[in-house]
Amino acid sequence: MSTYVVVGLQWGDEGKGKITDVLAEKSDYVVRYQGGNNAGHTVYAGEDKFVLHLLPSGVLQCKGKCIIGNGVVVNPEAFFNEIEAIEKRGLSTDHVFISSRAHIIMPYHILLDTYREEIAGNSQIGTTKRGIGPCYEDKVARIGIRAIDLLNPEVLKTKIKENLAVKNVLFEKLFSKKPLFFEDIYEKYVDYGKRLKNRIIDSEYDINHAIKDQKNVLFEGAQALMLDIDFGTYPYVTSSSPTTGGTTVGAGVPPTSLKNLIGVSKAYCTRVGNGAFPTELENKTGELIRKIGNEYGASTGRPRRCGWLDLVALRYSCMINGITHLVITKLDVLSNFEKIKVGIAYQTPEGNSTEVFPSTIEELSTYEVIYKELEGWNENISDVKSFENLPDSAKKYLQFIEEYLGVDIYLVSVGPERSQNIIKSTLN
Ligand code: GDP
Ligand code: IMO
Ligand code: MG
Repeated sequence: MSTYVVVGLQWGDEGKGKITDVLAEKSDYVVRYQGGNNAGHTVYAGEDKFVLHLLPSGVLQCKGKCIIGNGVVVNPEAFFNEIEAIEKRGLSTDHVFISSRAHIIMPYHILLDTYREEIAGNSQIGTTKRGIGPCYEDKVARIGIRAIDLLNPEVLKTKIKENLAVKNVLFEKLFSKKPLFFEDIYEKYVDYGKRLKNRIIDSEYDINHAIKDQKNVLFEGAQALMLDIDFGTYPYVTSSSPTTGGTTVGAGVPPTSLKNLIGVSKAYCTRVGNGAFPTELENKTGELIRKIGNEYGASTGRPRRCGWLDLVALRYSCMINGITHLVITKLDVLSNFEKIKVGIAYQTPEGNSTEVFPSTIEELSTYEVIYKELEGWNENISDVKSFENLPDSAKKYLQFIEEYLGVDIYLVSVGPERSQNIIKSTLN
């Protein structure tokens, strides 16, 4: 019985959903602790494909509770759409709960996100336009609406009125758009409250009691370190802390309770949205990776930018997260590449080599990546079940990553289906 945190180590879409789903089978609790429905977590159960955005990816396999923690921002409409889609496929969602302290994404958050991107021109972040940033802004500004407020119509009324008074000035005067009307929002959200009543709980007690009772508790990160509000490629980041540390504030658990810190990385690199990406391949090789890896956003359908693995960024990411166990996904996608490159250092404009990930994208943009070239393999590895049975050059590739990072690989994923895994070491 233990605790597990699954986090993305790159720019998102590493396959966290698949790994969470696999680990959820033995979990009593699966908890999302940050982000919202900007996430897109794909899970294949046989031929059946599920894409989870707001619900924990454990919802399919976990027999205990699935919790949307206090650190998540919740769009009620998206929540019900997802619940409905899953129930339509014959699965129960009675075990899904929302923290009373989770903040609610309101229509004005989505519009603010959209209008800001519209006027940003070249400095567009390329957000998912789900209202994530503006919702977190209101949380920090102490004017947010929380899940618990949906159960108190009077409090809700005051908060919506106060928010609209300010937001409508922005819409009309700054963005030259139409204002929103209180009546169009209020009744809808009172109704959401009625429908959510039995799902809204003080989840921090549940989760901490479960840990104390030696249950298996799994925390599922969305997004990833390089999109982290503090440590990512700011300002081209999301508005939450998708780190292992984010679990403590996003679920209300002490750092000492976290045992297995599982970092997920693709065998290469992708990014969706704008911003720095040192190892990006804007050429035929990048296109080939996109094609073989089917690299299109699970939330927005946008083509993902593709490139080689960046070990400088990955080691930085492991350091911030304190990763104890590494997961490498999509190794199968690299089959048939004659040579595989990995970024091992950056060269500064002065000609020096550095393995430090810089704090500004301006500095990062002046760096050239120094690569090491490794041998590829040309066998199909998607049915391989043990590390020993991988082609030698695939083993060498994985060992090179382990040695550079100083972290052991726990699992290698060789296909999207939940059984396509090579377990290389054990969890604690
Ligand atoms: P997440 O956001 O981290 O959960 O990742 P996404 O679900 O957005 O993107 C990962 C994509 O890769 C999904 O379509 C998965 O089905 C797929 N996938 C996951 N692991 C593997 C793997 O090992 N091999 C292949 N070929 N696809 C994988
Ligand atoms: P999962 O959990 C990849 C990116 C957006 C944009 C930036 C900010 O599936 O890995 P936001 O809407 O959060 O304000 O957008 O972050 N982004 C993601 N990229 N995977 C995700 O989630 C992402 N969630 C947000 O594309 O660049
Ligand atoms: Mg995704």
